[in-house]
Amino acid sequence: NNTIPVIAIDGPSASGKGTVAQRVAQQLGFHYLDSGALYRLTALAAQKQGVDWSDESSVTRLAAALDVVFEGETILLAGEDVSQSIRTEEMGYGASKVAALPAVRDALLQRQRDFARAPGLVADGRDMGAVVFPSAPLKIFLTATAAVRAERRYKQLLGRGEAADLAAITADLEARDERDRARAVAPLMQLPDALLLETSNLNIEQAVAQVLAWWRERAG
Ligand code: CDP
Ligand code: CDP
Repeated sequence: NNTIPVIAIDGPSASGKGTVAQRVAQQLGFHYLDSGALYRLTALAAQKQGVDWSDESSVTRLAAALDVVFEGETILLAGEDVSQSIRTEEMGYGASKVAALPAVRDALLQRQRDFARAPGLVADGRDMGAVVFPSAPLKIFLTATAAVRAERRYKQLLGRGEAADLAAITADLEARDERDRARAVAPLMQLPDALLLETSNLNIEQAVAQVLAWWRERAG
């Protein structure tokens, strides 16, 4: 729906997109779309069905048929709470594999657009501004250096009580970002019409404040 205001936030892994997008949505009373979750859910559904992540036609069928319910922080896949199980590094890897398949992206497109409902939407991912919501009035490329992002992911995992190895996280994160940048379809990149939000030296509150300030400029 082209008349609904959308704030599109794209950027690399662990830059803080999800955290910032959720808080901005909360402040504005907007809906929130975590597009990466749809790719993670597709990867998990494939794994559960014994479908290989490179099998484009089978994965596409699963993506099109995803039985998913978003209930606040909770995500249900075919009725099962998968909120935690889609957040593993393995599913991040699987998500980036299935996300490189054009038919899978097409199968998830309308589902993402359906999140745009009044009074507005904050959406985060890799191609929110380029593909899913190209007419979004505010597009942001949110990033931080690879070292800062790896540190953020590391602390996030430790905070969840998971074992974490900073060197392995750094290597995984750089490999996934490289795959996301290099792919032919909907690659990760900063659009010419996106504002750059470099957060290496910003905390969450400062990043949120910048997005809200830009939004007030646009909306006002
Ligand atoms: O969605 P994305 O993978 O880009 O990142 P995230 O899951 O929102 O953020 C990764 C971690 O970085 C979270 O634990 C955030 O709390 C933290 N973070 C931070 O420390 N400083 C920021 N400016 C943004 C996020
Ligand atoms: O939390 P993090 O930023 O590491 O990942 P995510 O946003 O959950 O996305 C997982 C993977 O899904 C990414 O590495 C991308 O390959 C893919 N993805 C995508 O292709 N397009 C999107 N709009 C969102 C995610």
